[in-house]
Amino acid sequence: MNRAGFELTVALPKGRMMADSYAAFSRAGIELPRARGERDLWHSGGGLAVLELRGADVPTYVDLGIADLGVVGRDILLEAGRDLYEPVDLGFGACRLSLIRLPEAVTPVRRIASKYPRFTQSWLRSRGMVADVVKLHGNVELAVLAGLADAVVDVVQTGATLRAAGLVEVEVLARSSARLVVNKSALKLKRDVIRPLIDNLRALAT
Ligand code: PRP
Repeated sequence: MNRAGFELTVALPKGRMMADSYAAFSRAGIELPRARGERDLWHSGGGLAVLELRGADVPTYVDLGIADLGVVGRDILLEAGRDLYEPVDLGFGACRLSLIRLPEAVTPVRRIASKYPRFTQSWLRSRGMVADVVKLHGNVELAVLAGLADAVVDVVQTGATLRAAGLVEVEVLARSSARLVVNKSALKLKRDVIRPLIDNLRALAT
């Protein structure tokens, strides 16, 4: 399929934020095409295309211009470190990136496990602290329970995962919510479509 023919290509994260993203675009006057089946990861129609991605891949697709814009959590942007235009806080998907430990832990943190190693390293530097940071890809709370690390840095949304694992949130390191991200070249080339969309989403988010 030739993506050049689409007026707008939008990268959306699979999972918790997908339905809220569709609803936000709809309120802003854009009906994004929907999936026709479970494995339909690229939906198109009416001059629009949607790419369904893992959240962590949204910044890459937008930065490299495959998608003109996308929706992604600020937590992922903090980790990705890409140069994207981030014009709108969409409000949904609120969560926090927190330092998590066993309730009785009192020793200094020596090794931290996280899906957010770059963010964690930069937080440690900002505190003048030194610790090993181990990158994991999921079920991060297990790292503390199994003794791989003495702390984790992870997303806390409802807190249910923490409670179920018997862990505690020691400190909130950053707050996150869904952001609209835009490729900087696309913003110039497709200004007539993207600017009104940004204005509408902004008006709805406030
Ligand atoms: C995230 C995060 C926590 C959980 C927090 O995991 O890593 O485990 O959500 O949410 P809660 O506070 O509402 O319980 P995710 O569901 O993305 O799965 P993963 O661990 O496989 O990455």
